[in-house]
Amino acid sequence: MSLNENFLWGGATAANQCEGAYNEDGRGLANVDVLPYGEDRLAVAKGLKKMYELDDAHYYPALEAIDFYHHYKEDIKLLAEMGFKVYRMSIAWSRIYPNGDDEEPNEAGLQFYEEIFKECKKYNIEPLVTITHFDCPMNLIKKYGGWRNRKQISFYEKLARTLFSRYKGLVKYWLTFNEINVILLFPFLNAGICFGEDENKYHALYTAAHHELVASALATKIAHEIDPDIMIGCMMAGGIYYPKTCNPQDVFKARQDTHKNCFFIDVQSRGTYPNYALKEFERKGFKVPFEPGDEELLKNNTVDFVSFSYYQTHVSAAVESSDGEKLLHGEANPYLSRSKWGWQIDPLGMRIALNDIYDRYQKPLFIVENGLGAADVVEKDGSINDDYRIEYLRSHIKALKDAVEIDGVDLLGYTTWAPIDLVSAGTGEMSKRYGFVYVDRDDHGNGTLSRSRKKSFYWYKKVIETNGEDLD
Ligand code: BG6
Repeated sequence: MSLNENFLWGGATAANQCEGAYNEDGRGLANVDVLPYGEDRLAVAKGLKKMYELDDAHYYPALEAIDFYHHYKEDIKLLAEMGFKVYRMSIAWSRIYPNGDDEEPNEAGLQFYEEIFKECKKYNIEPLVTITHFDCPMNLIKKYGGWRNRKQISFYEKLARTLFSRYKGLVKYWLTFNEINVILLFPFLNAGICFGEDENKYHALYTAAHHELVASALATKIAHEIDPDIMIGCMMAGGIYYPKTCNPQDVFKARQDTHKNCFFIDVQSRGTYPNYALKEFERKGFKVPFEPGDEELLKNNTVDFVSFSYYQTHVSAAVESSDGEKLLHGEANPYLSRSKWGWQIDPLGMRIALNDIYDRYQKPLFIVENGLGAADVVEKDGSINDDYRIEYLRSHIKALKDAVEIDGVDLLGYTTWAPIDLVSAGTGEMSKRYGFVYVDRDDHGNGTLSRSRKKSFYWYKKVIETNGEDLD
């Protein structure tokens, strides 16, 4: 048995990490623009440091990024050369509604994406479009406080309606929010939330989460009304949690971490708030701000498919070891190697994640991000021999094939992060590269922006050509 011949092979990018042109053709300023490179970045992304304006003391990598805005034809042509069946990308909200609460959309922004979709169609590439990949117009943050304000739902609704109507017939696959669960880690990046001094963070986060969940269901409803052929998906940061030992305490901790991570997708996929979450809210004195109609909306507008990013797995321990090494999410796994940025490499974990998520939701799945961030070296002759990337992707594609061919998981497609080098969301670096295509730009904005093919470019081309049969 092999993969279905319609399996969607491709790659994924996000507007804020590649487009640049932050103030061209009427685009408004967004939260993603004010994320600086350097030591303030994390605190700003977490909503712990308020930096709402651009200043001269910082470098802001998203402002120009890799200038996809002016290179999109060249870039899509390269994707087509690899034989892409699907290209995942996102809309910059503030290109369409520069302030978020504008009466009318910005035609130049709409035109830009229409041209991209047409360019994709030219090469028979199916666009898979994320409505918002971490971005939110700054005006909505300053004026309304971002997603903690219920008004945000109607602004998002307007955006979604505009997109579905305008691109009817051009775009079939949509995702409502990128990595919706990441709100718990990066509230400013995900939801435009910068915490007030005495604000109850937990309440603010889950209030914003409720608004995003309602907005997501509303978008799903509108999409299906406008075009019943549209397939709408949710999107989670999908690493799984291993118990550190078989001690039931650790096993239970892994279960709790899984609950926390899956909560958003449980709602989007099943249509109701899970009991484990309602009980926790009760204990925390949090009342979900349900308004009349919310429950029905969630119930009646669940997603058509479940998508997720997969980079690594995590270790859950009931009692944190005092000497063990700590990573961003939990403890280090001694059985796994790590990338230069400390991300644990676990191909079998991807097969486990596919099985877990499929068992949990019984809906078609889509892996919409997977890849290795590495520091590539350009040789004297201009070649880039990224065998480590090929090895990473090969082992993960093997695992996904096992999940489909042996375990029977229903998988629509696979898009690597990212087919072309772009700005890292976490660090703002360019030197954390993921692409098959190299972009000449460094961490400080120097470089010609010229594109060149890495060794992995030719390898992935062959993988797609053979529908995943030839991985050598
Ligand atoms: C995902 C995001 O979390 O991981 C992407 O959806 C991001 O936007 C990707 O770029 C890789 O993370 P990083 O920090 O290496 O860019």
